[in-house]
Amino acid sequence: MPDTRHEPIRVGIGTPLDRVDGPDKVTGQAHYAAEYAVPNMLYGVIVSGRIARGRITGIDETAARAVPGVVEVLTHRNRPSTPWLDRNYKDELNIPGDPFRALESEHILFSGQPVALVLAETFEAARFAASLVDVSYEAAAHNIDFEASLAERFLPSKKRNSYHPPKNHGDADAAFAAAELKHEARYHLATEHHNPMEMHATTVDWHGDGTLTVYDKNQGSQGVQSYLCNIFGFSKKELRVVNAFVGGAFGSGLRPQYQVYLAVMAAKHTQRSVRVVMTRQQMFTHAHRPEADYTIRLGAEATGKLTSIDGDATTSTSRFENNMEDIVIWGMINYASPNMKGEYCVAPRDTYTSADMRAPGAATGMTLFEIAMDELAYKAKVDPLDFRLLNYSDIDAMYRTPFTSKALREAYRDGAAAFGWDSRSPEPRSMKEGRELIGWGMATGLWTAEFVKTSAKAKLTADGRLEITSATSDIGTGTGTVLVLVAADTLGLPPDRISVRIGDSDLPHSPVQGGSRAAASGGAAVQLACEAVGKRLLKAAEKVDGQPLHAARSIEDVIFADGRMILKSDPSKAVSCADAMQAAGLEVIEEEQTAQPGLADRISQMTRSRNVHSAVFAEVRVDEELGQIRVTRIVNAVAAGRIINPKTARSQILGGVVMGMGMALHEETLGDNRLGRWMNHNLAEYHIPVNADVHDIQVIFVDEPDPDVTPLGVKGVGEIGIVSTAAAIANAIFHATGQRHRSLPITIDKLI
Ligand code: MOS
Repeated sequence: MPDTRHEPIRVGIGTPLDRVDGPDKVTGQAHYAAEYAVPNMLYGVIVSGRIARGRITGIDETAARAVPGVVEVLTHRNRPSTPWLDRNYKDELNIPGDPFRALESEHILFSGQPVALVLAETFEAARFAASLVDVSYEAAAHNIDFEASLAERFLPSKKRNSYHPPKNHGDADAAFAAAELKHEARYHLATEHHNPMEMHATTVDWHGDGTLTVYDKNQGSQGVQSYLCNIFGFSKKELRVVNAFVGGAFGSGLRPQYQVYLAVMAAKHTQRSVRVVMTRQQMFTHAHRPEADYTIRLGAEATGKLTSIDGDATTSTSRFENNMEDIVIWGMINYASPNMKGEYCVAPRDTYTSADMRAPGAATGMTLFEIAMDELAYKAKVDPLDFRLLNYSDIDAMYRTPFTSKALREAYRDGAAAFGWDSRSPEPRSMKEGRELIGWGMATGLWTAEFVKTSAKAKLTADGRLEITSATSDIGTGTGTVLVLVAADTLGLPPDRISVRIGDSDLPHSPVQGGSRAAASGGAAVQLACEAVGKRLLKAAEKVDGQPLHAARSIEDVIFADGRMILKSDPSKAVSCADAMQAAGLEVIEEEQTAQPGLADRISQMTRSRNVHSAVFAEVRVDEELGQIRVTRIVNAVAAGRIINPKTARSQILGGVVMGMGMALHEETLGDNRLGRWMNHNLAEYHIPVNADVHDIQVIFVDEPDPDVTPLGVKGVGEIGIVSTAAAIANAIFHATGQRHRSLPITIDKLI
């Protein structure tokens, strides 16, 4: 007789699960970096410099120091000397150049550079005193204008780990010259700044016994811990970094930002706890998506079949580091063409170094490329979707390697069906309703699937509760919830019996969260740790009277469900995990495991491409008299392997799409080159989509089983949602209006 008491409850991979940290977040129990209550704390306020380039000639701190409550004013003249002057230090991003170090010297490298830190007993005193620090400068000539900086563009060094130069094939120039259909145009993306809700902030809890806890907003607690230990000479036992909750991050937290350095320096100097929070304006003094200039030349046969792809791109960087992105590779990977070439340069300007921002490289390169593809589709008189299918490549067309999987055809099919693409009228300006022109556009998205070394610990207690721990972060993506689902799946426990702790450098090793790799990597580590616990449980079951699981040789022979181990070959034989632990006299089973690419994985990583794909369809309604563009519908169909949590995964795509809408229509940091400064450094003038801008967004995940891409078959969804959404919108605007816009964002002034 099979066990018919009840069907085992299987909540696991594929079950839509609410965020496990949701209640903490909405009830104020979640503490962000600037919210930890620390006794006897000093408040630090950063003074931002006024000029873009030159040097400080004098600092008058008299008035600031006279403010009651002010304890110290740190500048380059009196800051403590720290081991950071070891010039060999490199952060995890390994960007070639010389990283900016706050208060290092009198030299000014960019506008808004921190020039002093005022420390006071209250925030108000520190802020007021900071306004009284009188800094004089000797200005040197500067340039923050991207167009002007192009004169100084150069091929970057290839030393950065993550930068892959394009692989060229055939003779793109000759093929373009001979092509029956040609398209050549120059495309542009504005500078965009990171504006997560939580500004960069640090609270240092100086314990007074030589140890300190650093609550910091970042995307990787252990990277920040290494950075701080290197600089200040602490051991990892002495200095702990916590980022348990992160109020959004899109890449600005991949590197430690200057407030954490200043806060720890101040704490060490004053032997006190210190909090430093950047202002919203100061968020415009560091990481930003590089401005981009991209000339695309496409040659094709009269049918529209591509014969040549040629891209020449430049992105902005600072004068002290060369931040590189993969800009020109995406179209070359995605589309079949016998001839292709790409060239990529960086251009220095007197700003902080540009940086990764959600889908760095692809969000710029693929998006702009997909506008060019749309243009050629019209020239070929081929429907834009048919045009993509005509040039579809089953293999990675640039590396010439097969994909572990590519369900892009299915994404096109399902996205088009959900959108109703078939009923599109091909001519621009041919769809109208009242005074509104309607446009339908589409584009292809592409991103990478990565898997990196990550550790996790699983701890099962006799009361049937499981705790999962890993140092990984949750930058808003739902990482903790995803890890709970993997654990629930592996050990057959209901999610409410599982707790998760992440975002703490004391926990098992994890790299920074970025690159859409945390679910695949952390998930694999949690699965291994839970399997190790499962093995111990099965061993413990041997002590249970009558040995009901005697026939099980390994955990492969049992199903973990509903808190029990059930024999696969005879489901009437089962042992509850609690009984097994009790029989074996175990209070706790604790296992830590590390998931990492093995030799076979590494060979496979070289011989097979691993990418996430998407098909984005957009509807816009344009009021030409007002220049108003509304994005009324988006369908984003994503092929991202296995989806662990459909609910949080959908949220990632929704967020990416909204950010893509910002890229298409709103986000743009404008510089005033006379002052060398960003002008719109606040959320009143730096526009992002608000609720009224966001209408109907439909997310589809197409079926894409892929056992080879990562251990769980997961590809990651944090970034793909932004890629090419702006292109679909720009292409829809062309279809609505007949106006082709090649510079993003497409603001009202460009339309009328
Ligand atoms: Mo992101 S640019 O992967 O933080």
